[in-house]
Amino acid sequence: MPKDGKFTTDVLIIGCGIAGASAALEAAKSGLRVIVITKHSELEESNTYYAQGGIVSLGKDDHPELLKEDIIEAGDGVNNPEAVEILAGEGKSTIDEILIKELNIPFSRSTPDSLDYAQEAGHSRRRILHIKDSTGKTIEERFIQVLKKYSNVTLLSGHTAVDLLSVPHHSRNPKSFYTEPRCFGAYVLNNQTKRVKTIFAPYTILAAGGCGTVYLYTSNPKGAIGDGYAMAYRAGARIVNMEYIQFHPTSLFHRDVDGFLISETVRGEGARLKTKEGQTFMENYNKKKDLAPRDEVSRAIYEEMTNSNSSYVYLDLVSYAKFDIKKRFPHIYKTCLKYGIDITKEAIPVVPAAHYCCGGILVDEWGRSSLRNLYAVGEVSCTGVHGANRLASTSLLEGLVWGRRASKSIVSHFDPAKLDPSEIHDWYYPEKEEEIDPALVNQDWLSIRSTMWNYAGIIRTKKRLERAKADLDYLRHRIEKFYKEAKMDEKVVGLKHGIQVALLITYAALGNPKSLGAHYIKD
Ligand code: SIN
Repeated sequence: MPKDGKFTTDVLIIGCGIAGASAALEAAKSGLRVIVITKHSELEESNTYYAQGGIVSLGKDDHPELLKEDIIEAGDGVNNPEAVEILAGEGKSTIDEILIKELNIPFSRSTPDSLDYAQEAGHSRRRILHIKDSTGKTIEERFIQVLKKYSNVTLLSGHTAVDLLSVPHHSRNPKSFYTEPRCFGAYVLNNQTKRVKTIFAPYTILAAGGCGTVYLYTSNPKGAIGDGYAMAYRAGARIVNMEYIQFHPTSLFHRDVDGFLISETVRGEGARLKTKEGQTFMENYNKKKDLAPRDEVSRAIYEEMTNSNSSYVYLDLVSYAKFDIKKRFPHIYKTCLKYGIDITKEAIPVVPAAHYCCGGILVDEWGRSSLRNLYAVGEVSCTGVHGANRLASTSLLEGLVWGRRASKSIVSHFDPAKLDPSEIHDWYYPEKEEEIDPALVNQDWLSIRSTMWNYAGIIRTKKRLERAKADLDYLRHRIEKFYKEAKMDEKVVGLKHGIQVALLITYAALGNPKSLGAHYIKD
């Protein structure tokens, strides 16, 4: 593929984590031409890559009905029952077919003949398949290896989606206003050349992941700034439930580390949260103690930290582990040791961190959004599976199941675009293309992230949210101006997406006065 210009494909997939990769694999198998883009320089870089705990399946004494009950209990009852039914009913067979048979994923085993099922909070059964504590990394690497074998798949790293291409919005033809709005691909920045490609596709799948990075503390990698939500919103797709931002209770507290996750499976294997004085406290909040749903554990930690004016609590594994910690959690062990914490000898200092967005682009059971021919899968979408709070380890499975479903739907209805590319206007570059000053970009990000953490975080109030709205609205005007004058660069594009997403979350939180699941608003 030449470096820049105009391109046509059958399916454009934005994002390459488990959801995008699963969609790409299904479309590739049917012979469609697929372009997958990721803004990262490495194809594997994604939220999926960092997923430690695992992927939910069905355990030994388990049943889809039990899984459904757990998902709905964690979600505070506002889940979409049809979506939950699909995940619980189709999940295990999809894992068996794609991950185990097709991709040969070497899930951990308790005996040579039996898979090992881990426990996580909110699950009534041990049912989480894992590869020690590096589940996502293995799955992601394997997906990329397999996709590279398909000649009809083009994998483009270092390409940032700038905007979805939609008609009538980007059309030169005035008559296009009489047609149903429809997505036709995207404008995509080549991070190296700084030029914008126009990729035309009759079908676009957004698999751009979540938005944890709009918060000061997050378990997400730096790139999780919510590009997909922002682009879909600007293109006119429906976005729902953005107030339900899940905070993971335990990320490592350390000066030199940005949000390293201490997996919930650590508590699943018996670890307990303790105050700095060594007192357990979860029994005071929920009868499930340390394995209560995530939102409750995060709020309890927040409360304990506030009451004792402390910046962290402890997670004590060593006092409870009846197994070889180094063997079960090698990645967590090695990472903590690098920062001077030996988890086989001492408790781990932890704090909650923004982890997962339960809302997103509203989609149906096939991943179809409200904008024609735009699909969304994985964290960027809202199937309704998670309701107001996601049950642990359901996200990889949702991405896998809906990624495949989206492409199945496209393959079965495939209709090549009846669009004349000359009808679409080229990307407008600003006249002066001013050099960007990284100090300005960094400061704007700091403002977004601290505003979100302090005013739209674990515990919200109407006053705090109103302050967030005012501050972010003001910042948006500044960023828009900056964007219109600056040289095209992925950092500027990211900032424009980021401020949009911060506002989407804040407006959604302000519009919902009822505390539910991950949205907690104090009077
Ligand atoms: C974890 O390992 O605690 C994260 C799993 C998840 O968020 O589903």
